[in-house]
Amino acid sequence: MDKKVTFAVITLSDSGYKGEREDLSGKKIIEICKEKGFLLSCYEILPDEKSLLIEKLIELSNQKINLILTTGGTGFSERDITPEATKKVIEKEIPGIPEAMRNLSLKKTNRAMLTRGVCGIRKKTIILNLPGSAKAVEECLSFVIDPLEHGINILMGWDRNCART
Ligand code: MTE
Repeated sequence: MDKKVTFAVITLSDSGYKGEREDLSGKKIIEICKEKGFLLSCYEILPDEKSLLIEKLIELSNQKINLILTTGGTGFSERDITPEATKKVIEKEIPGIPEAMRNLSLKKTNRAMLTRGVCGIRKKTIILNLPGSAKAVEECLSFVIDPLEHGINILMGWDRNCART
């Protein structure tokens, strides 16, 4: 069995989709995950459209990708729909990961409380919403990536032992 973690990155940005803005947060996610040894399976920039994101999350989880990381669309703008689309497709919620990200991020900026991002499991795939800036991605993802990897190992049945050696 191949135990390499596969991941997908979906950037939600109307301006990024039109090519008007460079996708620095998506690139930051790829950099951090590759450093960790994860294999990139898919990278896409989508407009902030709920039905398109739902379709993409279902498609990628059907492909058995271990981890889908979204960036952007978690705030208060009318077009921000990333958490709503994610909640439509997940079967189990993982509240602890966004709670931990917000908790740590509040030490850096009080605006961290403004991200509505969620995390959950669909089939054998973990989906995590990250905010839409490279700085926020670095702050959030670097903090949760080790426990996330452990969670993937448990979800996949690659590791049944939670005890630390
Ligand atoms: N989290 C961290 N760690 N660092 C940040 O700079 N920015 C916040 C928040 N989370 C931020 C953060 C801000 S200003 C907003 S508006 C929300 O994420 C939502 O961002 P999004 O709409 O780009 O997803």
